[in-house]
Amino acid sequence: MISFSYIHNDNKYIEELIKLLNSQWPRSEYSRKASIEKSNDNFPFYLIMKLKNDELTVEETEEVIGCLTISTVLNNDKDSNVSLLLENVLIKSKYRGKGYGKLLMIEGHKIMKKKGYKISYLSTNDKQEFYKTFGYIECDPISTSNFSSCISSNSSGSSSISKEKNEDNIDDSEKVSNLLRIFGGNSKLKKTNTNLVWMKLNLE
Ligand SMILES: CC(C)(COP(=O)(O)OP(=O)(O)OC[C@H]1O[C@@H](n2cnc3c(N)ncnc32)[C@H](O)[C@@H]1OP(=O)(O)O)[C@@H](O)C(=O)NCCC(=O)NCCS
Repeated sequence: MISFSYIHNDNKYIEELIKLLNSQWPRSEYSRKASIEKSNDNFPFYLIMKLKNDELTVEETEEVIGCLTISTVLNNDKDSNVSLLLENVLIKSKYRGKGYGKLLMIEGHKIMKKKGYKISYLSTNDKQEFYKTFGYIECDPISTSNFSSCISSNSSGSSSISKEKNEDNIDDSEKVSNLLRIFGGNSKLKKTNTNLVWMKLNLE
């Protein structure tokens, strides 16, 4: 049986959520915790998807098998009051391809609509086809969130790149770039991913 909850209401799953996120987008535990601790009812928040193993008669167990984050859109002029940013959409690897990603997305959209928002934005570098199944279409880039964002591993299977805002609101590549500027080195560290595609969905 599947259930959903916000991590800030279910904080016994924080460690499990960190493990899940780091299995896809490796990052320090400290930085993950800082991002997760920002989760609250009024955005940004982490939604977790749990699977209850009903087959175990002695002891029922619940496993975090997926997550996503939703945050507000910054400085997006006319759309900022009606738009949200969907990020960190993730299903544990052994559960992929079984329809759980679809359930997770449906729940995310349901929450967005319930809170009165009309447009969902996201960025991806290789999951366009997955998002198109929900009606997402490609669009111009928007201002990034102050929460976190991910760039997933590419289809050729090379290692994943993560680009997440940390507690200081500076992303990791920016931090490295700043350090290089102070201590010497190439300060023009590449920060952008040319394959990144922005997509939007009209929730109405
Ligand atoms: C992307 C992800 C969340 C999909 O979850 P999932 O549980 O495997 O997806 P589902 O089984 O629910 O598939 C839902 C639908 O999307 C399609 N789909 C799933 N992954 C797809 C992909 N990579 N490309 C094209 N279509 C895809 C399925 O065929 C299915 O279509 P249908 O409803 O017509 O049958 C999962 O693969 C994942 O966690 N990937 C790693 C993290 C990641 O890259 N996240 C995206 C960051 S932008």
